Amino acid sequence: MNDWSPSSWQSHRALQQATYPDPAALEAALSELRGLPPLVTSWEVQSLKRQLADAANGDGFLLQGGDCAEGFADCQSDIIANKLKILLQMSLVLVEGLKQRVIRVGRIAGQYTKPRSADSETRNGITLPSYRGDLINGPDFTPESRTPDPGRLLLGHGRAALTLNFIRALSEGGFADLQHPENWDLAFMANSPRARDYRKVVESLGESLRFMKAVGAGSGELARVQFFTSHEALHLHYEQALTRQVRQFPGWFDLSAHMPWIGLRTADPDGAHVELMRGIANPVGVKLGGELSPDWLEALVERLNPQREPGRLVLIHRFGADRIEHELPPMIETVRRTGTPVLWVCDPMHGNTETTAKGYKTRRFERILKELCLAFDIHRESGGRLGGVHFELTGDDVTECLGGARGLDEVGLERAYATQVDPRLNYEQALEMAMAVVRKLRS
Ligand code: PEP
Ligand code: CO
Repeated sequence: MNDWSPSSWQSHRALQQATYPDPAALEAALSELRGLPPLVTSWEVQSLKRQLADAANGDGFLLQGGDCAEGFADCQSDIIANKLKILLQMSLVLVEGLKQRVIRVGRIAGQYTKPRSADSETRNGITLPSYRGDLINGPDFTPESRTPDPGRLLLGHGRAALTLNFIRALSEGGFADLQHPENWDLAFMANSPRARDYRKVVESLGESLRFMKAVGAGSGELARVQFFTSHEALHLHYEQALTRQVRQFPGWFDLSAHMPWIGLRTADPDGAHVELMRGIANPVGVKLGGELSPDWLEALVERLNPQREPGRLVLIHRFGADRIEHELPPMIETVRRTGTPVLWVCDPMHGNTETTAKGYKTRRFERILKELCLAFDIHRESGGRLGGVHFELTGDDVTECLGGARGLDEVGLERAYATQVDPRLNYEQALEMAMAVVRKLRS
């Protein structure tokens, strides 16, 4: 790949970038960032890639989830632990229900940027840059807050490191150990209509684990969990500064996360985001929507995985429950014609967003589930397989999505609507979703 370097994206069109008023200050921050340790390691990245390759072959299932956007203020022990807990609990339900290895990837420890539909926002005759996520600027509508600040790149790297440090400590310190079921308690899930189903899952897994121990088999797989990170690779200077060479493997790794992804709005095969991602060795996700033509998709797949390497490319489709039946089959066909192995993942969140009469941005549990069920069917009918799911969720008791076992309604949304950006499944709805996936796959 002679025509690629970590900076070659700079001669391509870069959408969704911040404009910094002081280029020298940006360069100073990037220079410091380039000298700081990376957030993840290349051997973790390689391990994830192998697992994704297995999943594409039918052995394993990807669970990817977390906030739409993390804020720096979310870097708190409870918030992080709750998010880890819901992802682990969902994965437990999937492991038990699917009888498969589940690969856990958080939208966490670096999901600090957001693509925006407009570069600026006007209120009462005053125009300021749009809020693009904490890595770039602040949400308050003041010139100080909205002006992109390169110091935030260092702050963001630090917050991501703190988050990941805590996640690593928790997952290695027995937080995820099934032999300590007190870690798996249900907190405010306790009164949920689904609590009994969930307890059965935990008991059943606990029994399997005791059985394996009794017969002397290793219980490592279930007792210890691996946890990977991902975020939208939107801020190209930031990703470039963390793209490194390592001693033990050839090539370049983006060590800001295990699996960066390219958002729908920046998935131009000739654009700067695809250019940076094409040269790194990480597994890379790409969000797909109905806007992509077959030629576009073919070019994208060719660009990002010319070597047809298994585990490299994760295609995350997000059409909406009304459009998936129309949009997905031709895409599966197009990708199949290229002969490139990919892992297909369904994001049933981003095509199902609506606004209530009172102005709350929300999503309906049953629409999310419907898109997911259709995705499983369509992939199976095409002779392939849906290899994973991608959710926006939180471990907290928020009220942002409608429906679920408790029948959250529009009045209920007002109780704890907290998101700055997209509505997330709350703890209970997320766990219920995992159980619904299992029911779907068993039926
Ligand atoms: C997101 O995942 O939060 C997002 C912006 O998604 P998409 O690029 O699919 O719209
Ligand atoms: Co979102």
